Amino acid sequence: MHSLKDCFTLRNGVKIPCVGFGTWQTPDGEVATNSVREAIACGYRHIDTAAVYGNEEGVGLGIRQSGIAREELFVTTKVWNSDHGYDSTLKAFDLSMKKLGLEYCDLYLIHWPNPIQFRDCWEEKNAQTWKAMEKLYFEGRVRAIGISNFQPHHILSLLKSATILPMVNQMCLHPAQNQTEMVEYCKKLGIVLEAYSPLGTGALLKQPEILACAEKYGKSPAQILLRWSLQKGFLPLPKSVTAQRIRENTDIFSFELEGEDVVRLSALEGRIPPSWNADTADF
Ligand code: A2P
Repeated sequence: MHSLKDCFTLRNGVKIPCVGFGTWQTPDGEVATNSVREAIACGYRHIDTAAVYGNEEGVGLGIRQSGIAREELFVTTKVWNSDHGYDSTLKAFDLSMKKLGLEYCDLYLIHWPNPIQFRDCWEEKNAQTWKAMEKLYFEGRVRAIGISNFQPHHILSLLKSATILPMVNQMCLHPAQNQTEMVEYCKKLGIVLEAYSPLGTGALLKQPEILACAEKYGKSPAQILLRWSLQKGFLPLPKSVTAQRIRENTDIFSFELEGEDVVRLSALEGRIPPSWNADTADF
């Protein structure tokens, strides 16, 4: 990968730009609009949002204000827990498209495998939700479909009834959360791994090993973490609402971490608290 416009190729041939602009925890309204516009001006061509982030309207406006043709952008959104099920997923998709002001979506994801309200029937609910995702795919309303926060047992269950294999799994992935088993499993199935919270939601930026690495390469801690993600074969989704950081996070193609530094950083496993467990979270 040599620039933000370089792409991974999904199983169905669709190209997905190798870094996405994350918007989890970005407030709706001007902040979302301005940061998305700024990101696109800096060269991002891939924007990631979700119904539950509550910022699809602001994100959509930023996309429209960017002046970049729709087909040059890759936009992802996700169906939230309360909308699991066939009809409710189709309705949720329509609402997301309306809020985003888009005719189609590049990638639609099941956001969470095991919502608390369906904990006794999550497998059936995922099967129904996935059927609706497949319908949207076959109708051409989404160019690709996938999952988020799915561990191997959730994927295995989905595969019992799926016609189409998920093309992407979006996970919390950074040097303190390597998720080795899940990563190996997805790689075997040809599922592209997107890394949300690639900076550990900021908590990894001050870790001494990251600072030492930043010093060694003459780059910022954020750039080191994003480089680690790319070199692991992940597609990072850094979030920022700060213009200077949005730009800084794009400058990750002019250097390469030595293999032993990638390994050394991966040893930070557990350094910060892990993200939620999909089967026990209280949502
Ligand atoms: P902000 O949005 O206020 O600029 P992650 O992508 O892992 O979720 O991390 C996002 C967090 O990291 C946000 O708090 C964001 O702050 C901060 N952040 C993003 N990029 C940088 C950067 N280059 N330097 C320092 N902090 C950053």
